[in-house]
Amino acid sequence: MFKSIPESLNRIVILTGAGVSAESGIQTFRGADGLWENHRLEDVAMPEAFARDPLLVQRFYNERRRQLTSASTKPNAAHLALAKLESAFDGNVLLVTQNIDNLHERAGSKHLIHMHGELMKARCIACGETSPLCAASGIDIDPSTNCRQCARTGTLRPHIVWFGEIPLQMDDIYHALASADLFISIGTSGNVYPAAGFVDAANQSGATTVELNLEASATRGAFKYHYDGAATTLVPAFVDAVLQRNASDRPQ
Ligand code: OAD
Repeated sequence: MFKSIPESLNRIVILTGAGVSAESGIQTFRGADGLWENHRLEDVAMPEAFARDPLLVQRFYNERRRQLTSASTKPNAAHLALAKLESAFDGNVLLVTQNIDNLHERAGSKHLIHMHGELMKARCIACGETSPLCAASGIDIDPSTNCRQCARTGTLRPHIVWFGEIPLQMDDIYHALASADLFISIGTSGNVYPAAGFVDAANQSGATTVELNLEASATRGAFKYHYDGAATTLVPAFVDAVLQRNASDRPQ
C-alpha cells in the first residue's frame, strides 16, 4: 500500500500535531468545535494576553491540564505505533511534536522534542526554572502558587510557546531534517510556522516527504506522498510498513 517508503532508510523525522491526539479525546485547534472556535487565541495564547489577564490564561491551561490527567485520556494506537517505531527501527527516529500533551511520552517515545512546550510543566518568569506539575503537588497554577526553586509567589506561567515566542530546540530539529531520509507529518493542518515549513527543509535535504492526515493540510502540495485517514488506522499501518522495509534492509 505504501509505495512512499524509501529503499535506503536510516534517519526518520516525524512531526505530529493535534490530529494525532484527537482520538484520545483532546480537542484539535482549528476543526469544527476546535479550541480556537470557542476561545480567541489573542486572549489565551499570547504573552500580551498573559500580561493583561493572567487569571484567564491560567484558567484556560488549568482546564487543559485537568482534561489531560483525567482517567479517560490515554495514548491511542497512533502514539503507541510511533513509540514502537522508535524502539524497533534500526536507525535514528526523531519525533517532533507541536502538541503540549504528554501522550507521546506516556506511549513510550523517548527521542522527542516538544517544540511548543509542555502542559504538565510550569516556568518561573522570575528565576527561569522549569518544573513539572503533578497530581501530588497540584496541577493548577493560580496567583498563590509558589515557584519551588526561588519561592516567589505569582511568577509561574505555563511552559507553553505562545504566538510571538520562539519554538524550542529549533537548531536540533533543523539539524535532524538536514540528514533525514524520510519526513512524516501526522495530524497537523500546516497553518503554523515554523513547523509548517519543515516539509520544505526536508525536501531540500532530499528526504522523502509523506503526509498522514484526515484531510489535506495547507501544505499538502509540498509533500511527495499523502494518505488520508484517521491517525489510529493510518499510523500503525505505515509504521508496520516502515519496519518491514527496515527488516528487509538488514544483512541476512
Ligand atoms: P490543527 O487543529 O490546526 O489541525 C489538526 C489537523 O489534524 C487537521 O488537519 C485535521 O484534519 C487533522 N485531524 C483531526 N483529527 C484527526 C485524526 N483522527 N487523525 C488524523 N488527523 C486528524 O492543529 P495543529 O496543526 O497541531 O500552537 O496546530 C498547530 C498549532 O496551532 C498548535 O500546536 C497550537 C495551535 O495554535 C500553539 O498553541 C502555539
